[in-house]
Amino acid sequence: MTKSNVSAAALIAAGFAVAIPATAQADELVLYCSVQEEWCRAMSEAFQRETGIDVLMTRRSSGETYAQIAAESEQPRGDVWWGGTGDPHLQAAQEGLTAEYSSPMLGELQDWAQRQAETSGNRTVGIYAGGLGFGYNSDLVTDNPPSCWADLLDERFADDVQVANPNSSGTSYTMLATMVQLMGEDEAFEYLANLHNNISQYTQSGSAPIRAAATGETAIGIVFMHDAVAQTVQGAPIVAVAPCEGTGYEVGSMSIIEGGPNPDAARAFYDWALTPEAQEIGATANSFQIPSNVNAATPEEAPRLEDIELIDYDFALYGSSEERTRLLERWDADIGSLPQ
Ligand code: G6P
Repeated sequence: MTKSNVSAAALIAAGFAVAIPATAQADELVLYCSVQEEWCRAMSEAFQRETGIDVLMTRRSSGETYAQIAAESEQPRGDVWWGGTGDPHLQAAQEGLTAEYSSPMLGELQDWAQRQAETSGNRTVGIYAGGLGFGYNSDLVTDNPPSCWADLLDERFADDVQVANPNSSGTSYTMLATMVQLMGEDEAFEYLANLHNNISQYTQSGSAPIRAAATGETAIGIVFMHDAVAQTVQGAPIVAVAPCEGTGYEVGSMSIIEGGPNPDAARAFYDWALTPEAQEIGATANSFQIPSNVNAATPEEAPRLEDIELIDYDFALYGSSEERTRLLERWDADIGSLPQ
């Protein structure tokens, strides 16, 4: 029996409907991962255990992974891009950097996850969702804690707010697109310019600001609410906030890289990653997003989308190549260039 046969047999025995041709050399998978390192590792190890396929995993933020896949497009080195915010996955789809694939698992997914597939012509799919917000350190902010986006402009938070750079981070791009949708574009850039007075650092990774808030390095981190909750669960004095004006959300996504070296292993991973069993690994790795498979248990700690005032985030527009590129250029010109 070849190694690829063993892999297929192991998957089928585990109850997964996969089709790996007997001739395929599906013994390796190059995974680009854009969630928390701990979850990336847990997923890689579980897939490897179940299939015998070796996973070579690299963790990078969403914008960085998009840029890497674009840079490697002449000679793709990755097979699957798993996790990270949906907008850069949609941009990659539009630019033909990712491959069309309709998983047999699609029918088991939440509408918001299937919509991501429809929008992209089946080049990406939703794997989880979560609302954007912020978290504050309750040891540092004892009076009158912030509850709205507007509160973050208060001068008592000078040099005490962190958010990531939207070029590298999908979290921060989600914030940029959210502000544009909430306020209008010019008003959003005015807000971000005012907020800049309170920003101590634009981090590379989206969740770094809340890790800094957990250790008291900063008072407030603008992040997805589940990233703030992850700190609270680990015992940090972090309170997660759903901003009063309303907020945006992400559809964390997955795509197969066009022309990647191991397409059979890529499809096997893709189908497996959409199963309830694989999606429930998140909660065991301190990640509290809403899973996209309707049969996967939502972690008790996960902030519920129904409890958050959500905008009708236009993924097709803000995930388009033109709009994402244009907004990031404007951010560089209007915000990134401001004196620190
Ligand atoms: C964290 C969140 C994910 C999100 C990701 C984006 O890992 O838990 O839900 O998709 O950040 O990362 P980035 O570094 O691109 O903002």
